[in-house]
Amino acid sequence: MAKLQLKNLNKTYSPKVVPVKDISLDVSEGEFLTLLGPSGCGKSTTLRLIAGLEQPTRGEIRIGDRDVTYLRPGDRDIAMVFQSYALYPHMTVYENMASSLKLRKKISNSEIERLVTEVAASLGLTELIDRKPGKLSGGQRQRVALGRALVRQPEVFLLDEPLSNLDALLREKVRAELKQLFSSQKAPVVYVTHDQTEAMTLSTKVAVLNSGNVQQLDPPHLIYTRPANQFVAGFVGSPQMNLLVLKCQGNFAQLGDFRVRLPDMPTVPPEIVLGIRPEHVGFADAEAGKMSAPEAIKGEVFLVENLGMQNLVSVRVKGVDSVTVRALLPNDRHWNSEIVELVFGPQLLHWFDVKTGDRLQ
Ligand SMILES: Nc1ncnc2c1ncn2[C@@H]1O[C@H](COP(=O)(O)OP(=O)(O)OP(=O)(O)O)[C@@H](O)[C@H]1O
Ligand SMILES: [Mg+2]
Repeated sequence: MAKLQLKNLNKTYSPKVVPVKDISLDVSEGEFLTLLGPSGCGKSTTLRLIAGLEQPTRGEIRIGDRDVTYLRPGDRDIAMVFQSYALYPHMTVYENMASSLKLRKKISNSEIERLVTEVAASLGLTELIDRKPGKLSGGQRQRVALGRALVRQPEVFLLDEPLSNLDALLREKVRAELKQLFSSQKAPVVYVTHDQTEAMTLSTKVAVLNSGNVQQLDPPHLIYTRPANQFVAGFVGSPQMNLLVLKCQGNFAQLGDFRVRLPDMPTVPPEIVLGIRPEHVGFADAEAGKMSAPEAIKGEVFLVENLGMQNLVSVRVKGVDSVTVRALLPNDRHWNSEIVELVFGPQLLHWFDVKTGDRLQ
């Protein structure tokens, strides 16, 4: 199996529409890379460039030692799965899956039958093999589209939001199936989604994109625990990370009555951004003697959202206008519009440059 490489890939539609800006990355054998980012950030365009459905303005695409940048899609040995499934409506499941193999000259009908039957069984499609797509559910159609890609045993797999047309329950089920399926595949996979749960659960590494740029390329746990900048910090994680602008004074940063020690840094800027994930904020219980006056964020509860397992509690920070902190807290407690103190572990804080948004530790 060969490595997929993108080198300084650019795509410009017009001076104002540049969906892919200088993207360089490698996806090796056995790796599952997810391109994660908001709508319009260039995920599908990047995938279409790899597939050969678009031509880059600049840059190079390699599969192993082959430069495929300007090869026709059919000559690249890539299989792509689309959000819309793109199945042939007049063909059965079997014929849809076999269709990509029939284009090959050197493959016998019995070999096609063996491959399709095997992949159909692994996807639980055996019973449906003679049905046409019109008589399948969304999840079943998506499995046929996957099956069509898998039977080809391509050098590279590309998947563009393959689960986004499924309802939440089915998405969870097919996501788990995908994970199992691709864990036994050697070919590099590039998967596109704006769903962070999919990115976190499926990938060996994640490229977070914004406006055509790679913001961070790392394994999922690092994307979550060490976001490279404020964009990644705010995009990954649900509920979203609290991002607060604090004034710096000496070794401390301050927001209203709240004071926190700054991390070691060569020069202390006038302002700094502090990031705290809602799940890392706790409730300081004065009676239990846990209250730690200046290190606690004091404020008034103004909204409680029941998320089932936990409550998402929004607190208006005391002494500063319109700054709120959200905390994920156990839902065994009833909240009124009361004054609370929120605390957190100092090792779970994230610091970002106020101007560039870059991570500071
Ligand atoms: N053929 C085209 N001509 C001009 N602009 C285009 C073309 N295709 C895409 N774009 C623009 O390029 C940008 C990136 O589009 P792309 O489809 O790659 O986004 P995406 O990250 O896949 O978004 P989504 O999550 O909504 O699918 C968008 O601003 C889009 O409008
Ligand atoms: Mg897209």
